Order: sequence, then C-alpha cells, then structure tokens
Amino acid sequence: MKSPVSNNNTLLYGGDYNPEQWLDHPEILEADIRMMKKAKINTATMGIFSWSTLEPEEGRYDFSFLRERIDTLHKNGIQVILSTPTGARPKWMADRYEEVLRVNEEGQRAYFGFRHNHCMTSPVYREKTREIDCRLAEEFGHHPGVIGWHINNEMGGECYCPLCQQAFRDWVRDRYHSIEAVNKAWNTTFWSHTYQSFDQIEAPSGRGETFLHGLNLAWKRFVTERHLDFTRMEKEAIRSAGSTLPVTINMMYNYTGLNYQEFSEDLDYISWDNYPTWHKTRLYETALDCGMEHDRMRSIKRQPFLLMESSPTSTNWQPISKLRAPGVLALQQMQAIAHGSDGALYFQIRQSRGASEKFHGAVIDHYGGEDTRVFREVTAVGEILEEIREVSGSETEAKVAILYDTENRWAIEDAQGPRNEGMYYRETALSWYRAVKEYGLDVDLIDESQSFCYGDGKSDSYRLVIAPMLYMLRGDITTRLKNFVEAGGILFLTYWSGVVDQDDLCYLGGRPYGMRDLVGFRSEEIDGLYDGMENSGVKVKAENLSEREERILSKMKESYRIDRLAEIEKIEGADVLYTYGSDFYEGRAVLSSHRVGQGYVYGIAAALEQDFCTDLVRAVLEEEGVTSLLGEGHKLPDEVTVNSRTGDDGSVYIFLQNWKDEEQELHLPADCSVILGRDDGKIDALGNLVLKKTLV
Ligand code: GLA
Ligand code: GLA
Repeated sequence: MKSPVSNNNTLLYGGDYNPEQWLDHPEILEADIRMMKKAKINTATMGIFSWSTLEPEEGRYDFSFLRERIDTLHKNGIQVILSTPTGARPKWMADRYEEVLRVNEEGQRAYFGFRHNHCMTSPVYREKTREIDCRLAEEFGHHPGVIGWHINNEMGGECYCPLCQQAFRDWVRDRYHSIEAVNKAWNTTFWSHTYQSFDQIEAPSGRGETFLHGLNLAWKRFVTERHLDFTRMEKEAIRSAGSTLPVTINMMYNYTGLNYQEFSEDLDYISWDNYPTWHKTRLYETALDCGMEHDRMRSIKRQPFLLMESSPTSTNWQPISKLRAPGVLALQQMQAIAHGSDGALYFQIRQSRGASEKFHGAVIDHYGGEDTRVFREVTAVGEILEEIREVSGSETEAKVAILYDTENRWAIEDAQGPRNEGMYYRETALSWYRAVKEYGLDVDLIDESQSFCYGDGKSDSYRLVIAPMLYMLRGDITTRLKNFVEAGGILFLTYWSGVVDQDDLCYLGGRPYGMRDLVGFRSEEIDGLYDGMENSGVKVKAENLSEREERILSKMKESYRIDRLAEIEKIEGADVLYTYGSDFYEGRAVLSSHRVGQGYVYGIAAALEQDFCTDLVRAVLEEEGVTSLLGEGHKLPDEVTVNSRTGDDGSVYIFLQNWKDEEQELHLPADCSVILGRDDGKIDALGNLVLKKTLV
C-alpha cells in the first residue's frame, strides 16, 4: 500500500518552518520563499510549537499568520504538513491550570518550561488540545496547500501525577480483572509485596518499587497506552472537524520509552527524525546503524514512510557539533529514500536567532545568503530528488526479517542476570542486520505481533527470519514461527530465547519454551562471561553431516570468537555444526541445525563475532538460492550499501551508496538503466547510484 503522503511522482523535500519567529521581518519571510524555491523545497512542516501565537490568551485564537503563510507557500508551489501545537503549551495555561504540568517520579510537579512536559491524562490539557486541533482542522483541513497532519512532536516521557496514577490503576484493573491475578502475574509474594486491592498500586519509582518486573512492564505498557490514547484523541479532533488528511507522529531514533508498533493502526503513515553523529566512526558504521533504524520505521506499517526531520549540517544538542564533509548530506538524505522514505525533510528551514536551537544547523543560516556551502548542498539534494521522483510510492519487498521487539527489549534490559553489564540486545540485532546488508539484501525489522509476510496484504513469506534473544514470548509467536518453518522458512534463533511469558514470569519445564521441538534442544544453563573473557565456536568434523550441512560448513571458518554469553544446550534431535572450544562445556553445541517440515532452524547458542553472523547468513542464503540485489555471485564492494524498492508497474529501483571516500568499481546487474549517477560501472567517492530494472 502506498503511503498517503506519496503523491504524484513527488518526493517531499523541505522541513520545519517556523515563521512565527520572524513576523516582524517581512523581508525575511519573502526571502524564505525565494530561497525555498531555489533549493527545490516543496514541503514545509508548520505549527509545531506555535500554540502561544495561535492562542495568545485563553479562548482567543489568531490563525492569521498561519493562513497568510500557507496561502503564500501554496501560491509558490510549496505544500504544508500542518502540526498540532501540543508538544509545547502556552504559559497562560500552565499558570491557570497546574494539572497540565507533569509530576516526576519523586512526586514534584514541574514548573513551566521546556516542552514535552504536559500530562497526558489531564482533562484540561485534553480539552484545550481538542479545541485548538478542531479549530485548526476546520480552518486548514481543506486547504489545497495542506497535505497532511503531524500530531504533537516527538512525544514521550512519563507523568506520575495523581491523575496518571489513577489511570494506571484503572489500566491494571482492565488488564488483569482481579488483584489475585495481578499478584500471580507479578510474583508479588517475593519480598512480601502482595497487594490487597487495586487502590494500593503505584507506578514504579526510585523512591518506591523498581524490582517487580511485572509492574515495570505494566507501567511501560501503560505509558505507551497514554500516548496512544492522546494521539487518538487528537486524530479524532481533526477528523471531527472534517479533515481526512493523513496523520502521523514523528518518532525518534532508538527510543524505548514507547512501543511504537502499538501506533501502527492509528497512524496513516510513519515518520521519524534522524540525527546521526557522522564522522564519529567510519561513515559506513553510522550508515548501518541509521539504516537499521530506517528499516525499523518502515516496517511498522511495511509501507513507505517519511523522514520528517534531519539536520542539513550540525546538530547542536549533541555533545559535539561536528560538521559533515561535503557529500555526506546527499548520502544521508538518499539513504532515507533508499530505505523507503518518500521524502527527506530537515529541522529547520531558517535558523533561529535565539534560544536553545540558535546554533542548530538550518537550510538558511544567520548570514541569510544562498552562497553558503550548506545551502548549495541542500540545493543539490533537492535537484537529485527531483531527478529520481518516480521512485515515490515504490515499496520495499524484503526477503529477510529480524525480530526486533520493544517489549522484549524492555524485559531483557530490566532483568537482573545473566549479564547486568550489558545484554546488548540492539547491538546483537545490528550484527545480524549487518550480515544481511553485507550479503546485499533488504531487511524488515518486525516485532512479535507482526506476520512473517513482507509487504502489505501480500502473501509472500520471508525466506529467513532472524530472532536474536527472543526472551519474552508474546501472543502466538511460537505457533507462527513453527508454521513459518514447516512451510519452508529458515529461522535463526539465538540463546536466551523462550524464557519468560508476557508478564515476565519465567516458564517452567525447560526453555526455549514452546520451541524445544522446533530447535531440537533444551537450554540447560547460560553462562555470563566477564568482560575480556572469551570462548570459541569450533567447526565439527564432517562425518555424519548431510550434504547440505557440509556445503554450508565449507563456506565457513574453522572457528569463531565468543564473548559475553554462552548457553549450554542439551541436544534433542538437532545436528551439531559448531561446538565450544573451551571451559567445562567444551564440546557442547554452539551452532545447530534442525530440519522441521520444509524448513530449517539454526540454533545459535552463544554471542559470536561478526564474521560468524556474516558467514552463516551468506552460506545459508546461498544454499537457499536467495541471490543478492546485485545478482548471483556479485559481492558488494567494501563500504557500499544496496537497497531496493519496487514500483506498482514492477520496476525495481536499486540504490547503491558508497560510504568510502574513494571511487569504487561495481558490478551493475543486467537489464538495468542508470537513473542517477555514473553508468561506467563505477561509483564516485561518497557517491549515489540509482538503477532501474524494468520488467520485460
Ligand atoms: C542476600 C539476601 C537474600 C538474597 C540473596 C541473593 O543474601 O539476604 O535474600 O537476596 O542475597 O544473593
Ligand atoms: C527534534 C525536535 C525538533 C528539534 C530537533 C533538533 O527532532 O523534534 O523540534 O528540536 O530535534 O535536532
């Protein structure tokens, strides 16, 4: 399905535009339009923090500046994504209605200040929000220059006020029905925490309880529910005023305060804000890290998304504001498109004169002219996006998925043991992600609630699903994994899987719970290795192995390094391919393979080095006949990434990006035409290449 903001052969380009900061400078407002057009900007996001300008006194609304700007932008061919202003409230509201301000976990109510610190439960805040959202939607919901809505801004955080505490108790009651069920689910008899009634339940807090993992998990789910409920309320306000335009919220990088997947059905499109720290390490490393995040965002709805914010140059809230080398901006914005974004927007179009973001990079800086390096690079990106605009709306059809689940991560990171000094859930997912990207394929990052079919409404199943540390099992995940494998899918399941249920209670009777017959072993123990300690996984001798296993092993090294975590498995039917090289469990399985129905499960017992992940992914995918996007046998050059998108007419767009500061040679797949970049089989240093393969 297309993203509702993908329209007519256009990739959205532009960003946050805050003209309310410049209303006394008509010459600047005029220059804004001229410069936006020059930079090929076609989209402005507006109204994000405009509440005090839009409603300067309670009940007195003044939308004149917004109307004038939207009209003018529209006349100049620039469309608007309008935001609700609820990410920051006016002072008059905080002064008159204390309840709109958040209370921290120590029980202190915040003073007025910052942004994002409103209570999500407060009836007053909700009423004021509903009122202004309705009025904005009535006024602009049918304006031909407005294409979509953006609710709030990077929502997140927690409020511990009495209203939220009561809402939490109600939420717990709705979920568990009886207090006995709560006590059981949270194992409260430990340390004598037994509750007698729902009224006794309090949010976890450093001054009170933080060790009841079931309570912590419930609170995190509740916080997601509060934000989702608030988002729904805002969306309903917009709809009740007759606007049918698509709605999003802008999500954040690696943010674990909310389970974003829960928003999937309520949002019409997904958007997020990307602020990488380029040059801290090799560009390629940062690119993989951002790439995984792009893929995670796209996978929430498995449809094209929107890069809502990014910096055109430095990012002043980071510890160090590093400038990017020339060329990196185009790589950054093209990366979003390559991974499925239908646009590339910035924060912000004109740099503020004062307050906290006066040194944040912007399209137009304090100097104000077009003859700046940044403005030239922004313009060059605008030209590229125009050139390749036909890719808008095309979709990513990934053959591989990584199960990357926020609730699972909450539980893994909250538990004590087996390594309080770091379980490295995200890093582990990233190692597998890197392995698939280096093979040259697209990847979805899905959670336990999502199906194993890529694309929306399609029946195509992934070929490979990689499940790193599937610790907490939710819903019918084990049945679905089993069905997936039986039908011919390949599953990689690592150590620390099938350990707890959805309330974080440990399963009895052996782990991985519900999957012992799938993996063909039982996990007996798990060893946490001290930092600096190592073991190894050593290839077994080829006797007794099937031809398939022999072929796979022939493509892998004799041994691989292990650190951090090592699980000891008792084999119940699987074939053992690698075993531990040392310690008292020397000789026990490190990698196993188990045939189930038409498919195979690979059990990975320990945290193995990157080369292991890379080699195993390659060997298994080759065995399965899944070829890379470059075609059979063609390896990606070092530090080059590849992604693809498929259009409605079956055309496949292949995006190659060279993160190395050196020109490189490439194999161009057959039957492709070049729609961006060189056509001589080379890719420039820090270059982009887009190919098009048309179905014949
Ligand atoms: C202490 C406590 C026990 C238990 C153990 C765990 O000894 O007295 O209740 O928490 O630590 O190591
Ligand atoms: C976030 C916010 C923006 C702005 C940028 C600056 O993404 O949404 O309002 O503060 O950061 O990087």
